[in-house]
Amino acid sequence: ARVLLVSSEAVPLVKTGGLADVITALAVSLRKLNIDASILMPGYGVAIDHARAAAGDAGDSTDSAAASLQPLALPRDLPGGPARLLRGVMPGTDVPVLLLDTERFRRRSANPYIDQSGNEFCDNAVCFADLAHAAVAICAGETAVPAPHVVHANDWHAGLIPFLLKTAGLNHVASMLTIHNLAFQGNYDWTLAGQLGLAHDAQAMSSLEYWGKISFLKAGLQHADCITTVSKTYAEEILTPRFGYGMEGVLNERRAALRAIPNGIDSAVWNPEHDPLLRHSFSVDDMRGKTLSKCDLQDMFGLLPVDPFAPIIGIGSRMSHQKMADVVLQTLPQVLDRRERMQVVVLGCGDRSYEEGFLDLAHRYPGRVGVHIGYDEERAHALHAGCDMLLHPSRFEPFGLTPLYAMRYGTIPIASRVGGLTDTIADVGMHGPAAAGASGVLFDGETARDMEAAIERAFALHQDAGAWRAMQRNAMHTDFDWQTAAAAYVDAYAAIAATEAKPLF
Ligand code: ADP
Ligand code: GLC
Repeated sequence: ARVLLVSSEAVPLVKTGGLADVITALAVSLRKLNIDASILMPGYGVAIDHARAAAGDAGDSTDSAAASLQPLALPRDLPGGPARLLRGVMPGTDVPVLLLDTERFRRRSANPYIDQSGNEFCDNAVCFADLAHAAVAICAGETAVPAPHVVHANDWHAGLIPFLLKTAGLNHVASMLTIHNLAFQGNYDWTLAGQLGLAHDAQAMSSLEYWGKISFLKAGLQHADCITTVSKTYAEEILTPRFGYGMEGVLNERRAALRAIPNGIDSAVWNPEHDPLLRHSFSVDDMRGKTLSKCDLQDMFGLLPVDPFAPIIGIGSRMSHQKMADVVLQTLPQVLDRRERMQVVVLGCGDRSYEEGFLDLAHRYPGRVGVHIGYDEERAHALHAGCDMLLHPSRFEPFGLTPLYAMRYGTIPIASRVGGLTDTIADVGMHGPAAAGASGVLFDGETARDMEAAIERAFALHQDAGAWRAMQRNAMHTDFDWQTAAAAYVDAYAAIAATEAKPLF
């Protein structure tokens, strides 16, 4: 069976968060299960360049024709104007990728959603309507790509697809919508309807309308044959006003179509035993390499003294309200003042004011706080390998890949008790680490006091070498592999794609 995954980002072509990791890993794992999975994503300038360069490298091999990007015509104009597809292979994988090549997408570089001053691009609605219309053209068999049996839309960027499929009468293609983050909804002014190629009738009104606006996400929630989200706890949370971001009503109505399919992590990429981005390897039975990695991290972030016994807390996430960057900035000075040997490493980027806050912290605590604004895999691996603890607070967390990466390296997460974090991290609670299989510290609340208490709880455990070791063992053994997740997707696809004719799976 053929499945077309539609997403605004996918590694290694473009990544601003976990969605990018998930899409490529899922496609690879589906293909191992004999599903013909491919990815449709925007042809951002950077993505095209990267895919071309990778294809060029592979071009030295015998099959250079297959390695280059192949243009395919899209016979219809999209709302934003003419477009074409570029067909290639996702670098480093066997997954076919289709890049939607439009004038607007090609102009986008570093961050695909916001401009250099941090504002959302004003033509995002048109760009992502283009993405949805292109997916529908593929489903209608209008391109050289065979139509999929299932189109799997991810987040609001692809939210219009289930709605457009229905209005086009393409009922033979089943649709799934996965919610990776309900806070982003793609809500735009009604006056844009015509320009976005959306009919302006009663059906459109009831399908798309959200507080007087067009909502890309609601269009998907209303019309997808199946809705999934990325953890069991988040699937329950989004039915409530606190986490539903106004969509709880629609979600409750569609409850029967909602399933939780927890993400996996790529345990070959995040593996302390074989990590090409680290100088020292280590394992649960021989942690000497972790001590050496700690010194490498101190070196990399300019921390002094380079001392393997200084406890290091790391933070590696988007600097955003979701990730409680505001509370982190209030809490850290107090902890740093109390614990004189403690060091902090921060890797990330996001809202300007938070970026400035972290740079200021580094300035106020020279040698004790190392901050890198940006993101790259080398620093991310160094951080997870070299820290003792990962501070990962979130106001809401659909899944949360980052703490699982840290845990693979024996770095203990201190995280909020929300969403996927509740399902993946076993809180040490009152019972002690070994007995309960604990792998981290979870906390409730969103104040500096709540966060500080959790950090103190972690430090108390850290002083007990035996307890800490037990927790590291549990953390390093935590297993969320992609094949389990992919098998659950195959089940869900089968349930929606099995037609009167014959089951496809
Ligand atoms: P989210 O998707 O909400 O950011 P996750 O923890 O699930 O949270 O996934 C984050 C992923 O994105 C991880 O692979 C992490 O290393 C990476 N990442 C974190 N910050 C950035 C950033 N500023 N730019 C790009 N990737 C980032
Ligand atoms: C989102 C969520 C994150 C999740 C990721 C992949 O960005 O914020 O929790 O892990 O998507 O599903």
